[in-house]
Amino acid sequence: MLQDKHVTLTVSGSVASYKAAALARALQRAGAQVRVVLTEAASRFITPATFAALTKQPVLTDAGWWQADGNIEHIELADWTELALAAPASANLMAQFANGLANDAASTTWLATAAQKVVVPAMNSHMWAAPATQRNRQQLIADGVTVLEPATGALAEGYSGQGRFLEPDEIVAQLQALPAPAAAHGDLRGKRVLVTAGGTRERLDPVRFLTNDSSGKMGYAVAAAAQQAGADVTLITAPTKLTAPVGVTTVPIESTQDLADAVNARFPRTDVLIMAAAVADFQPVTAADQKIKKTPDNDQLTLTLRKTPDILQGVADQKRPGQIVVGFAAETQNLLANGQKKLTKKHLDLLAANDVSRADIGFNGDNNQVTFLFPDGHQQQTPVAAKPVIAGLLIEQVAGLLNTKK
Ligand code: PMT
Repeated sequence: MLQDKHVTLTVSGSVASYKAAALARALQRAGAQVRVVLTEAASRFITPATFAALTKQPVLTDAGWWQADGNIEHIELADWTELALAAPASANLMAQFANGLANDAASTTWLATAAQKVVVPAMNSHMWAAPATQRNRQQLIADGVTVLEPATGALAEGYSGQGRFLEPDEIVAQLQALPAPAAAHGDLRGKRVLVTAGGTRERLDPVRFLTNDSSGKMGYAVAAAAQQAGADVTLITAPTKLTAPVGVTTVPIESTQDLADAVNARFPRTDVLIMAAAVADFQPVTAADQKIKKTPDNDQLTLTLRKTPDILQGVADQKRPGQIVVGFAAETQNLLANGQKKLTKKHLDLLAANDVSRADIGFNGDNNQVTFLFPDGHQQQTPVAAKPVIAGLLIEQVAGLLNTKK
């Protein structure tokens, strides 16, 4: 992915700015040609001379921007760029990019390039969690930018939290795994894609329910990736803390029955169904109308559960030629054998099997690793990568399947 690639590295002001020098070297080791833009704030942490020496290229800064020498440097650099990488990206830089500001060398270069774009945030954990930053992150994703998840760990402030800059080798590994930009495929334009996300809830009474650890991150990332590939996307979502990508039609549901009804109603006019939701396999036979009370007699409470409808199994019977149905398999053992059984039993075109016994991937985390299983027995494992990266790889596979079914 990086061999001979023209990478423009935008460095913003952060305690992690110094790590951008190691990142420039790591990109070069991976075969990339690197040029650098430094924001005014970054220049207070690390000097242009460092990057000029490493890259043997002039460094674009606000000081050297719009000189009266006839060169429009940010446009020249934007046109040269094949991969725009903002790393470390401060909260301010993300806000500039998300809002289309063009008020310095970094933001004008970013706005002017049509290249694939990746942001690697680095900031204080409270700044990362702030609603405005999360809004900007969502906006960037909706605009087709890949935003890598910052690491969780010790921060410069002396406490721990999410916001740490990823290590340069980790960034390069994630870049190597990036799917080609959707526009390069023209992939899913004109296609209607239905994505499900989150963990369904099965009510015991008005204030209690049975559910699972799904955060919805995988499904939301799939919806964003499908939208970036040009699809008309509907996201059916169980309750989550996430904001849906701008432009995606969202259908909120709660129970497995709600999800089944929502999927069944839309499936006939869907080209691709991707079931990333973690669906309850059992539901209480009855849900109490009122809150279940403790009494002196009920030291134990027995719940009777019955199977929920299998949504994927149900749509298999309605499937028309050309429709693509994709499932996920959440497994804690015998990942591939169990995944293969689900692929066959549910008549899927593709199944993404993930090992949910691991703490670093699967439920709730920011990263995942899946093995794509196909009906012909072919298998392909992804690296461990941010869920948006895995989602992009999945959408690339879906686009390939649609092509073969044409
Ligand atoms: O949401 P995150 O925190 O990001 O976590 C992501 C994830 C781990 C939830 C996701 O990657 C994932 O694995 N989703 C599928 C979870 C699941 O329900 O797996 P399963 O092996 O039980 O079911 C297999 C497939 O059948 C799934 O596509 C599921 O959506 C579907 N299913 C399951 C039960 C049911 N009654 N009807 C279904 O259609």
